[in-house]
Amino acid sequence: AKIRKHKWEVKYEYKSHDCYQKLAMTVNGKTPGPTILAQQGDTIIVKVKNSLLLENTAIHWHGIPQIGTPWFDGIAGVTQCPILPGDTFTYRFVVNRPGTYLYHAHYGMQRESGLYGSIHVSVPDGISEPFAYDYDRSIILNDWYHKSTYEQATGLSSIPFQWVGEPQSLLIQGRGKFDCSSMDAGVCNASNQKCSPFVMTVVPGKTYRLRISSMTALSALSFQIESHKMTIVEADGHYVEPFVVQNLFIYSGETYSVLVKADQDPSRNYWAVSSVVSRLPNTTSALAIFNYNSIHPEKKPPTTPHNGPQWNDVALRLAQSHAIKARHGYIYQPPKTSDRVMVLLNTQNTIDNYLHWSVNNVSYNLPRTPYLIALKENLSHTFHQSSPPDKYDIANYDIYAVRNNTNATSSDSIYRLEYNSIVDVILQNANTMNPNNSETHPWHLHGHDFWVLGYGIGKFDMNNDPKKYNLVNPIMKNTVPLHPYGWTALRFKADNPGVWAFHCHIESHFYMGMGVVFEEGIDKVGKLPSSIMGCGETKATYSP
Ligand code: C2O
Ligand code: CU
Repeated sequence: AKIRKHKWEVKYEYKSHDCYQKLAMTVNGKTPGPTILAQQGDTIIVKVKNSLLLENTAIHWHGIPQIGTPWFDGIAGVTQCPILPGDTFTYRFVVNRPGTYLYHAHYGMQRESGLYGSIHVSVPDGISEPFAYDYDRSIILNDWYHKSTYEQATGLSSIPFQWVGEPQSLLIQGRGKFDCSSMDAGVCNASNQKCSPFVMTVVPGKTYRLRISSMTALSALSFQIESHKMTIVEADGHYVEPFVVQNLFIYSGETYSVLVKADQDPSRNYWAVSSVVSRLPNTTSALAIFNYNSIHPEKKPPTTPHNGPQWNDVALRLAQSHAIKARHGYIYQPPKTSDRVMVLLNTQNTIDNYLHWSVNNVSYNLPRTPYLIALKENLSHTFHQSSPPDKYDIANYDIYAVRNNTNATSSDSIYRLEYNSIVDVILQNANTMNPNNSETHPWHLHGHDFWVLGYGIGKFDMNNDPKKYNLVNPIMKNTVPLHPYGWTALRFKADNPGVWAFHCHIESHFYMGMGVVFEEGIDKVGKLPSSIMGCGETKATYSP
């Protein structure tokens, strides 16, 4: 195994991703940032210099379980103190599994400012992937806002509440197109080369492994390449029993590999399209060019780009969720039973007239003192010690009605899991504070992959739905959608000593409280590095 060292400088730069110029957060001048390439078992060392001038940061390695290094998970308030402007912080961790992963800022709503990128981990020498391809490419999909995250976050925590709204554009590998026609050319310029469509050049007859991931702040997406079918082979670092789709539905925080064969008429180019689903779209689809190598890369395809599936076709999206199964020969069988079952009801609530998202009527907020340090150093006064509720009486909750849920509270309390226990989590969706509205929430677990045991629409039935769990070939993932008015059931083993967030990957939702935190095996966590300390109550314990 190798040691792979990276030196990063994080700073703001003017960028015109969608032709509109705004400040974006970059890594070494780029957003998306550099791709981290590694092989299974390698150690990654990233020395991050925070040159943001006025802003803290922390970087999370999304999908990397941080076994033995829980302090480098990179979520400020949970596993470390934020990196102060001017400071340098070094992350060091092992990539234990092959697959496609991500990294992104995990401080406030900073991710959507542009600090994100991909991590590709290849199989060890002498091992081959269970599918063949000629080339390996990656595409990160994103949505893009013109307001700063400060403005957005302030609006979300104001009375009256100001929603962030739909994004101004969608980006494919950092490129999108906003309609500049009514704007000053100094601010928004449609002929700027920097916002010309992303081009993926292919050789006729070759097969491409396309690693597609989503880093959206809000949007659920559908991605497709005109006239080309995609075979899904990997999801969140696990091999999928291959199946063919015309379009890929992808939720924030998910990664997929699809195989695409360049088998169409090579005398023209084709559109690749990313479009919004699950919310009434108010954002133009993003276009990229799937370019056959004998054609000029910027030559527009002769066709009108496809609009993608109906935004509100939940059945179609649910069908794709159901279709994702572990690949034969690569199945990690889940334990047949669990030790603890949690039912987490997702609701919108008002607390003192502020709008929040809640789980079992608790709206989550991050503490100033990171739990990992607080728990190791017995700083028990730094967060609420009582546990949030494991269950909610969903039998008596109308998931289709607007409920005011006025009994909600804000808390930084956490769930303490017994080390090595098997935990089931049933996420239950419900109506928001708006009539006839339930949203899609991509839930992401730090520190683990979980088995996806099942999905359903409607209220989870404690007696009958568990009988329908897929215990034969469930896929393991780290991010999974909770569909509108639906439920999603997961199982994981609490075998990774540390403190791990589990939250909705929609940035404004987590900011508004949509998350929980799990602790397991804290007594087995090794000596904490002093570099993670220095904030909240850890100042007193800091000893270099
Ligand atoms: Cu990619 Cu806590 O998230
Ligand atoms: Cu959400």
